[in-house]
Amino acid sequence: MKEKLQELKEQVLEELATIQTVSALKDTKVKYLGKKGSLTEIMRGMGKLSPEERPIIGQMVNEIRAQLEATIDERSKELEKAELIAKLANEKVDITLPGRKPQEGHLHPVTLTLREMKKIFMRMGFDVMEGPEIENDYFNFEALNLPKDHPARDMQDTFYITEEFLLRTQTSPVQARTMQANEGNAPIRMICPGTVYRNDYDATHSPMFHQVEGLVIDKNISLADLKGTLEVFCKEMFGNNVKIRLRPSFFPFTEPSAEVDISCVMCGGKGCRVCKNSGWLEILGSGMVHPNVLRMSGFDPQEVSGFAFGMGVERIAMLKYGIDDLRLFFENDLRFIRQFK
Ligand code: DAH
Repeated sequence: MKEKLQELKEQVLEELATIQTVSALKDTKVKYLGKKGSLTEIMRGMGKLSPEERPIIGQMVNEIRAQLEATIDERSKELEKAELIAKLANEKVDITLPGRKPQEGHLHPVTLTLREMKKIFMRMGFDVMEGPEIENDYFNFEALNLPKDHPARDMQDTFYITEEFLLRTQTSPVQARTMQANEGNAPIRMICPGTVYRNDYDATHSPMFHQVEGLVIDKNISLADLKGTLEVFCKEMFGNNVKIRLRPSFFPFTEPSAEVDISCVMCGGKGCRVCKNSGWLEILGSGMVHPNVLRMSGFDPQEVSGFAFGMGVERIAMLKYGIDDLRLFFENDLRFIRQFK
């Protein structure tokens, strides 16, 4: 048995000296020292030895194992080092390759436009209000002078949740909410940006879109204040050369009512395909707050007057950026969205 062990030791040491790779070294370790390795095999035969021999052989096995393990460790370090040196010598890193940039997010064009609109009105001293998107019939229609059977309700078909509750068709209900919250106290100078819903879908209408509502109430507010405010807004939004004009129109909650146009941002007013050769583009609805609306929400039309307006954010963004299909805003095609970085 002693000879056998001695032989095995020699054989392993010889083999270790010739091994050239870390993985071959691992194989050798398993072959001799592993659970099914040769040394273990020899130890299994120890049962047959006499009680005197057993501790002697046992000690020898332990010594050989320790010696072999130490040698393997040493070889392993040498080989690892050699492999690393070879790897460094052979591999080339091309340090001239450009790095990988992390993809940065950015704001959506509708958000950008909305923020700019808010900024302009805030500079003029307007407060920014909010209202619920699930609105009741009273605020969305009645309080705006649109009683139950008013034909103008047909223009704003929407999604009804119950007879009483609906997805708001306009941000105008926030006019009534703000007036009621102010309990008859002027002045009010507010805008309300928000999401609105209608049963519409084509290149210029989407079932969900955004509006900015405006309301000013104070003593002696006139149509001149309305025109001046909107002119400042349009010039800041579209540039100083832009002109505005008011056309008579109808809204149940304003009297008189006006549709506001800006001179065409594409042709400067000469006439082109975008403005259908008229030189003008419609951008919003407005008017002097109807006495009924003032009265219903707690203001005395003999004491105060006001103006109001409402405009579509997507429409402003389309004109500002020259976009011809509103649906692009909501399809989330990154080739479109990334242009606004
Ligand atoms: N709410 C109207 C709409 O969605 C827009 C509008 C017109 C708002 C005139 C106003 C206004 O405040 O005075 O079509």
